[in-house]
Amino acid sequence: MSRFLPTAPYRGTRDFLPDEMSVRQQVFSRLYEAVERYGYVRYDGPILESADIYEAKSGREIADQQLYSLTDRAGRRLALRPEMTPSVARMIAGHAGELQFPVRWYSHVNCHRYERPQRGRVREHWQINVDVFGSDSPNCEIEIFQVIHDMMASLGATRDMYVLRANDRILLESLLVDVIGIPHEKVRDVSSILDRWAKYPREQLLDSALQLEISEQQFERIEVALKSDESLLPEMPAETLERSPLARILAGPGRDLVVFDPSIVRAFEYYTATVFEVFDTNPANSRSLFGGGRYSDLVGLFSDQRIPGIGFGMGDVTLMDFLDTHGLLPTPKPECDVAVMPVEEELLPVVRDIAGELRAAGYRTVVPLESRKLGKELKRADRSGARAGVIVGPDDWQRGMVGVRDLAGREQQTVPREEVVAAVAQILSSPRPDRTTI
Ligand code: HAM
Repeated sequence: MSRFLPTAPYRGTRDFLPDEMSVRQQVFSRLYEAVERYGYVRYDGPILESADIYEAKSGREIADQQLYSLTDRAGRRLALRPEMTPSVARMIAGHAGELQFPVRWYSHVNCHRYERPQRGRVREHWQINVDVFGSDSPNCEIEIFQVIHDMMASLGATRDMYVLRANDRILLESLLVDVIGIPHEKVRDVSSILDRWAKYPREQLLDSALQLEISEQQFERIEVALKSDESLLPEMPAETLERSPLARILAGPGRDLVVFDPSIVRAFEYYTATVFEVFDTNPANSRSLFGGGRYSDLVGLFSDQRIPGIGFGMGDVTLMDFLDTHGLLPTPKPECDVAVMPVEEELLPVVRDIAGELRAAGYRTVVPLESRKLGKELKRADRSGARAGVIVGPDDWQRGMVGVRDLAGREQQTVPREEVVAAVAQILSSPRPDRTTI
């Protein structure tokens, strides 16, 4: 056994070093801007919640297998949140009296699930949650779908790179009951087989269906139905189509936003109507990128008010895989813009003053902390990605002058001390020369 503790983080969790963090920040800030352009405002909440809020309506997989649960010193059963939807429903219920509905909220939160780590799945991930509360109108679906497309566009993704697929549990239930003849009380169990449809071999799915006393013939009809498109809709009762927000969208002006896919089920029990997922069109990422749906009565867990909600959670892991696959990841930003360096240690106070001026002008500016040779400092500045170097030498300084160097082009000029900020500004705003030609 090693004398040292491991430096790797706990299995399925991740460290983010600054370069990766810089990429992530650029991605997320574009997403926040896209969401805020629709009037969504950001909220947050605790990572620890009462375990009850997941056990009630999130579904057995989350509650029984994926929850990181603990008991506090007073014996309360808690969990690290595996998702944000029950928490936001709790907040909406608790503040309904003060809120003006419809409420448009978003958050960016860390979620924990005890899953087997694999491509697209880890044990802690970040989710941007975007939800609307307080309206049953299909206009909510339309807006949420538009937000999704705008978020993707803000990252440079075009519509051929991904597809937004949606279903409606109202339609699904009607398909199973009215069209295929499955008894009402079996809908939930059959839906959970459908949720596993793409991931399991046919025999296993058929076996599960037979155990529920679904006939082989009915199973085959489900198979056909799942492969079909909107041609399925006219077979459903008019009353069902009227109740389904998705069917109304597919028949109207929101039509181009989404593709109907009767095989989308989603695992959470709280969804009551529309369910949707976004997929990469590149087969490198077969798992859905993110998803969500409409939940008519989740807020009802916390109060007697019926406040419907609809929204989605966009996960960072699958999103970054998508951006990587399509060459859309931004490059990390350099550590700083300017490095100010003394030729002799005695000049460090001067260097600090000049750095202060550059910072006040808005430039990210570093100064040495250790006394080192100028050559080493220049190398360090170069590696840090700084574009400009300010060099303070004793002879120049006696004349009130300093050296200002373009670290990309290597040209250096000597300027009066008062002109340092202007000289740096000029370097930073000029295009980076191609180093290979120098
Ligand atoms: P979800 O589909 O469980 O939905 O998670 C949303 C997204 O979070 C997934 O599509 C995926 O991108 C990411 N995600 C989930 N689990 C993991 C994991 N173990 N590793 C990496 N990424 C993961 C929900 O959580 C719903 N509460 C979303 C929602 C919001 N529905 C309505 N509003």
